[in-house]
Amino acid sequence: MKALPREADAFAGGGSGVKLLPACTAIDSMSAKNISVDPIVLLGAPGAGKGTQAKLIAGHYGIPHISTGDILRDNVARGTELGRKAKTVMERGELVSDDLVNGMVADRLKQPDCERGFVLDGFPRTVVQAEWLDRELAARAGKSNRPVVVGVEVSYNQLLQRLTGRRTCPVDGKIYNVYLQPPKEKGVCDVCGTQLFQRADDTEEVISARLKNYERQTLPLEDFYRKQGRLRRINGEQSVEQVMAEMFRAIEGGAL
Ligand code: AP5
Repeated sequence: MKALPREADAFAGGGSGVKLLPACTAIDSMSAKNISVDPIVLLGAPGAGKGTQAKLIAGHYGIPHISTGDILRDNVARGTELGRKAKTVMERGELVSDDLVNGMVADRLKQPDCERGFVLDGFPRTVVQAEWLDRELAARAGKSNRPVVVGVEVSYNQLLQRLTGRRTCPVDGKIYNVYLQPPKEKGVCDVCGTQLFQRADDTEEVISARLKNYERQTLPLEDFYRKQGRLRRINGEQSVEQVMAEMFRAIEGGAL
């Protein structure tokens, strides 16, 4: 029996009596950090758990977690030109223009830490972005140009609870949920003790706009990738460690 990646212990309770799942991944954490992996694309509605899983995947393979939402929020916080353009759009729960986001991802993929692979979280989000990504990957000489696309499925009511309850650590990015994954001490990060914050777009009004825009602009991507035979769908409405086990099976070529 293979062990879960070490990163899972923290979520599974690591010794706190929570039962671990067997055979999560065929590649142990040590060897996973030396291999090249296909680009990994996580699809799913706002709150589906893409960020939570992307951090675990990135930790396991030692590859970067590229969240377009995080990059945009960082630009907003630093008041860059990109941030100023994105701010009001994000506050309305709409999508930032394809050109801006594609350019941002192009810059990030040029960084040397993307050589062995990367996890894309929140990108692509429109068919235009997916077509751009296909072209971009095809132009990367000597590297895999076939992304593994994993769609995480979660019902509407669960998404609402996850988004309204989400709290994040500003220092290490660790994600909590006041209903589902509370920190040990209310409002404080378990790891570094910093005060947690609630994202500006996690209000009910903006959440509703984000979910509508997801259905209209991002859901069609499932068909786009299904037609290419790349889409692997997993049930995101399980514990973090169960979702992760399915996630690794999907990434490492398990049953569709
Ligand atoms: P972005 O930051 O990408 O937000 P999102 O897609 O709306 O996704 P979230 O980050 O809200 O959710 P998630 O799926 O990562 O869930 P998480 O793991 O945090 O984008 C923000 C904005 O930026 C967009 O609205 C848009 O304006 C702009 N933008 C970004 N990318 C763009 C692009 N490509 N093009 C154009 N515009 C773009 O989990 C959520 C909660 O659930 C947490 O509290 C967590 O603890 C909990 N949870 C997770 N997994 C589980 C589980 N298995 N069981 C119980 N609870 C769980």
